[in-house]
Amino acid sequence: MKKNLLVSLFSLMMVIVLSACTSNDGEASVEDTNNGKDSNEEMNMNEDNENSMEENMNNSSSEGEMNNGSMGNGHMDHDDVVSLIDSTGENELNIPPVLKSDSNKGTEYTIRAQKGETEIFDGVQTKTYGYNGSFLGPMLQFEKGDTVKINLINELNENTTFHWHGLEVPGNDDGGPHNVLEPGEESTIEFEVTQEAATLWFHPHPEGKTSEQVYNGLAGLIYIEDQNSKNLELPSEYGENDIPLIFQDRVFDDEKQLNYKATANEDGTVGDTSLINGTLNPKLTVDKEKVRLRLLNGSNARNYTVKLNTGDAFVQVATDGGFLNEQVSMQEITLTPSERAEIVIDFSQVKTNEEIALVNEEGTTLLPFEITDQTGKTIDIPDEMNDFSVTEEEKNLPVTKEIELFGMMDMVTINGKKFDPERIDFTQEQGVTEVWEIYNKPDMMGGMIHPFHIHGAQFKILSRNGEAPPENERGWKDSFSVAPDETVKIAIQFKNKGIYMFHCHILEHEDNGMMGQVKVE
Ligand code: C2O
Ligand code: CU
Ligand code: CU
Repeated sequence: MKKNLLVSLFSLMMVIVLSACTSNDGEASVEDTNNGKDSNEEMNMNEDNENSMEENMNNSSSEGEMNNGSMGNGHMDHDDVVSLIDSTGENELNIPPVLKSDSNKGTEYTIRAQKGETEIFDGVQTKTYGYNGSFLGPMLQFEKGDTVKINLINELNENTTFHWHGLEVPGNDDGGPHNVLEPGEESTIEFEVTQEAATLWFHPHPEGKTSEQVYNGLAGLIYIEDQNSKNLELPSEYGENDIPLIFQDRVFDDEKQLNYKATANEDGTVGDTSLINGTLNPKLTVDKEKVRLRLLNGSNARNYTVKLNTGDAFVQVATDGGFLNEQVSMQEITLTPSERAEIVIDFSQVKTNEEIALVNEEGTTLLPFEITDQTGKTIDIPDEMNDFSVTEEEKNLPVTKEIELFGMMDMVTINGKKFDPERIDFTQEQGVTEVWEIYNKPDMMGGMIHPFHIHGAQFKILSRNGEAPPENERGWKDSFSVAPDETVKIAIQFKNKGIYMFHCHILEHEDNGMMGQVKVE
C-alpha cells in the first residue's frame, strides 16, 4: 500500500519537476549540487509536494518524527538545499586542542563522549555533545609506527561507538555499529598506526543514531604524521599556518538550541547556519605566508564547494588518506560529507587590508581571513610529495564486487537491501586487492549524489564513468561522491581482518539502512 502511494506521488512529482525545470537534465554534476539561489520557484514547488508526501509518509509510518520546518525538508534534490548565512567574521576561529597523552609514555589516550553546554551564541548556552569537552573533540596526533592505546568512555545517556574514519585498524577496533558502549561503559582499544601521513577523523557510529549524535557535536580530528610529512616541510605549525577546518551546518531554534528531531530530514539534515570548528561567524587571522588548511566536510549531508572570493587559485596537496604526488592547482574544491582535502593558500602577496575569504559556490562567506602585517617564512611546496600509483595490474583486475546505490528519503538501499547487522554482504581476503564498482542508479526524480565510504581501508579511484579520475583524486581515498548514473571503480585492499561497514555518508541515509558489511578474513 505505502509503496504504491509513494510511487504515484513520485510520478506526480516527476511530472511537476520535469515541467518546472526544463533546463535541468537531472545529471547533477559535483559542481552544481547546491546552486539553489536562482531556482527558488522550482524549489518551492518541490517543497510543497514533498511536504505533502512527508505528511502521507508520516501518516503511514510509526516514526512520525519528520518535521514541518522551513529548512528544505523533503527529498534533497540538487536545487532545494537551504543557503548558508554569511559569516560576519566577528569570532576568531576555534582551533581544536591537541589531545595530550595520559602519561609520559606518550601513546595512551582517554576519550570521553559527553554532554555539555557551549556558548556558540554570545551569552547563550546551547546543549551539545563533545569528546573531552562540550562540543566537537580534540585533535589526536599519531605517528606512523606508533602503538596507540585509547581508553573509550561513554558518559552519554545513550549508546554510542567510537569510529575512526579512514584509519586502517582491525574490525574490532573500528568502532562500527557492533562496537557499542552503553551509558557509563568503558573499553580500551590498542592498535598500530600503519598508514602514511593523513588527516582523518572520528565520530560515533551507533546503528540508527549516528546522524543525531554527530549533529549534536560528536566529531574530532586525527592527524597522522610520518617521516615523509616531516621531510616535505609543508606549513605544519598547528593553529598557526596548519589549520583544520571542520565544515558543518546546523539549524538553531528560537532558544538557540540544536533540536535534531525538529529539523531532521530523511534525505540528509541541512541547516542555514555555518559553523567551522564549531565557531559561529568565524574569521581566521593569518600572516603573509603560505597557509595549509585541512578541510573536512563534517556535515550530515551538505556538499561543500569552497573557493576564494578573489577567484584566485590555490593548491591541493592531500586527499582523504595521504599526499598527492604533486600539488594540483584548483579554482574550487567540492567535498561531499566525510571527505577531506588539504589545500595551501599563498597569502604572502596579499595586502593587509585586502578582503579575502573562503566562500561557497553561491558566494556565501564561510571564512573571512584577517591578514596581519607579519611576513611569515617562505615555504616551497616540493615537486614530489608522494609515490602513489595505480598499477597496470590493478587497472586490469576484473570487477569482483558490485554496489548499486538507490533511493531517497528513508527508502534508500544498497543492492536493493537495507542494513542488517546479522547479514554479511561480502567477504574479501586480507591483503588481496579487489575492484569494486559502485553505481548510483537514478530514480524517477533524477536521483542525488551519494557520498560512498568504506571502513578500514584507504583505496584508489580507478575510474569515473570509465575515465581516469580528476587529478585531485589521484591519491588515497576513503570516501568519494557518486553522482546519479555515475559508475566509480576503485581498487581496495584491507590490511586487517574484521567486519567493516560500507555506506552512504549522508548520515540519515546511513541511519536509514544505506549500509552493508564486508567481512575480511
Ligand atoms: Cu565516517 Cu561509517 O563513517
Ligand atoms: Cu568510516
Ligand atoms: Cu545517500
